[in-house]
Amino acid sequence: MKRIYPMNGNKFIEKFIENIGKLDEINIKSVLESLENERKFFKIVFDYLDEGIILIVDNKVVFLNQKAKNLLITPSLTKNSYSLEEFKKNVGNIFLCNIICKSLEKNDCKTELIDRARENRYYQFEKFCVMEKVYIIKIKDITESKNMEFQLKNMESISALNTLAAGIAHEIKNPLTAIDLHIQIIKKAIKKKIVEASPEIIHFIEIIDEEQKRLTKIVNDFLTAARKRELNLSFEDINSYLQEIIKLIQPEIENNSIELVLEFNSIPKIFIDKDYLKQAFLNIFKNAIESMLQTEEAREKGKILKIKTFYDNAMDAVGVSIQDNGTGIEEEKIQKIFEPYYTTKENGTGLGLTIVYKIVKEHGGDIKVESEKNKGSTFTIYLPLSKGRKLITGE
Ligand SMILES: Nc1ncnc2c1ncn2[C@@H]1O[C@H](COP(=O)(O)OP(=O)(O)OP(=O)(O)O)[C@@H](O)[C@H]1O
Ligand SMILES: [Mg+2]
Repeated sequence: MKRIYPMNGNKFIEKFIENIGKLDEINIKSVLESLENERKFFKIVFDYLDEGIILIVDNKVVFLNQKAKNLLITPSLTKNSYSLEEFKKNVGNIFLCNIICKSLEKNDCKTELIDRARENRYYQFEKFCVMEKVYIIKIKDITESKNMEFQLKNMESISALNTLAAGIAHEIKNPLTAIDLHIQIIKKAIKKKIVEASPEIIHFIEIIDEEQKRLTKIVNDFLTAARKRELNLSFEDINSYLQEIIKLIQPEIENNSIELVLEFNSIPKIFIDKDYLKQAFLNIFKNAIESMLQTEEAREKGKILKIKTFYDNAMDAVGVSIQDNGTGIEEEKIQKIFEPYYTTKENGTGLGLTIVYKIVKEHGGDIKVESEKNKGSTFTIYLPLSKGRKLITGE
């Protein structure tokens, strides 16, 4: 039998009614089955939508898709049509239910709502009249995207603040350099007896000098931690590179009777930014020395700073470990030490390890810490062998 009623035609129902007298039982059954399939199909489509859709005809709720049922919390709605009164009794989300009912008394609207009683959930709400007394209501839970928006705004303002602070810090650097220069001139003049100064004045100048050095360190550390830097790479032998850096801390090591143990193994050359990475190593050396000095009285066996270089086969990286037998770090504090401004020292800025982490990561490397309270700490820096490769770690 020829199928005379295409289901997707616009005037399908009209044609069906017009020709109903010409149809036999089988034909009518097939049309009704098609209609039922079509109804199921649209239900699937509507239930798939991320928006809650509610259809209200003549003050009766006649359709809710699955999302609307979830949003409104309506487990017991089973009938095809509900008066508004019945509907209210079966809805768990009173906030949305009231908004829907009130909106029917007003003009079409599209707005954002916030339900403070339900952990600040945000909804996009839209009501429009499609024909007389027939309304479609769309509700979308936009809490996640709203929170993301807030987070982004927050991040933008933090990054704007950072840029501002970096700008100010940079401006502070120039006068600080001038202050330093002039203090050094005054100190030299006093030393050469070009000018005379009482012991009191010399003491005050020392204080000013110390404080300006502290300020310079704070400003420089902040700038290093806050700014992104293009690496100026060169191909270096880390063993001889470290020897050069160790020379800078040699006086401190000797003055504080620290035993320096070097274990330099044969390692391949790698690409590094010499000046930049130097800051990372100096910060770790400085921390190690400071921690050993804090335990001076308690320690009998002497302060030992051990620096070892090695090749790590599994990581295909050069490793440098710096081991001290200082205060050690409590287990629960280890995850905090890389955070900006975390310090346990009276005069610490707490940016030292933040900078170390940044520099090592910008070299594509990684850093590991092992520490035991009252025993000491080992910081190990891994630097990748191939230029531009990032070490993948279990962070
Ligand atoms: N080798 C170490 N032994 C024991 N504790 C350490 C060691 N290295 C770091 N720490 C702990 O981690 C904290 C943070 O170190 P970080 O270098 O970031 O800042 P800081 O040394 O306190 O100040 P600064 O910014 O002047 O370096 C230290 O205050 C200290 O508590
Ligand atoms: Mg430090």
